[in-house]
Amino acid sequence: MTSLVSRAMATVSAQLGNPHGLLGKGVARMLNRTNRFAIDAAIDSAEVRPGQAVADIGFGGGVGLSVLLRRVGPDGTVHGVEISPDMAARARSRFAREIGTGQLRVLEGGLTELPLADASLDAAITVNTVYFVDELDRVCAELARVLRPAGRVVIGIGDPEAMARMPFTANGFRLRPVAGVSAALERAGLAVEHRVVDRRPIPAHLVIGRFAR
Ligand SMILES: C[S@@+](CC[C@H](N)C(=O)[O-])C[C@H]1O[C@@H](n2cnc3c(N)ncnc32)[C@H](O)[C@@H]1O
Repeated sequence: MTSLVSRAMATVSAQLGNPHGLLGKGVARMLNRTNRFAIDAAIDSAEVRPGQAVADIGFGGGVGLSVLLRRVGPDGTVHGVEISPDMAARARSRFAREIGTGQLRVLEGGLTELPLADASLDAAITVNTVYFVDELDRVCAELARVLRPAGRVVIGIGDPEAMARMPFTANGFRLRPVAGVSAALERAGLAVEHRVVDRRPIPAHLVIGRFAR
């Protein structure tokens, strides 16, 4: 790669891991368009129902927050957690009404230290985020900590082989085999199921965890 191209790819990669500034606005819109199918499938797999308390962690452009708000309805609560202050600010402005009614809380924080109480969620999704975290066991332990006994958590990732062919993943992305993500959720005490959404150019894998009954 020429240094110009590799610099551009490093910029894209950094933006995907923490969208910010002017470029971050475009990245947010692009994420909402490109990843909607995986987010919808993650929410379906989390079996989100009216009245529940749910979270989208690393919500990026925020399309998952819209879908979750519709699914849980007026009696439910959605928690949006983001490490990017700019994405959190964007969500606060876009969803001011839902924040005002108490249906949505937007929190700045990270997957390894969730700003959520123990056993507070019926469902949590985190899609296209774990590439940016080294400590996957800690992420899974946090997800298990915030889940209620009958709750479900869904980690969505792009197919690792397809992702590896994308030049923007060369820097700053941790691409893990699906089995590695499943094993980390199992180490956190969850029973795991795996679903694939076959989509080009990057199929999505959903790793679904819940406490064994
Ligand atoms: C590639 S975007 C995906 C956004 C959205 N989930 C989607 O699929 O379109 C990754 C998002 O995760 C956020 N993120 C990165 N590391 C995070 C962490 N440790 N905790 C929470 N969010 C994180 C980034 O700020 C960014 O908004």
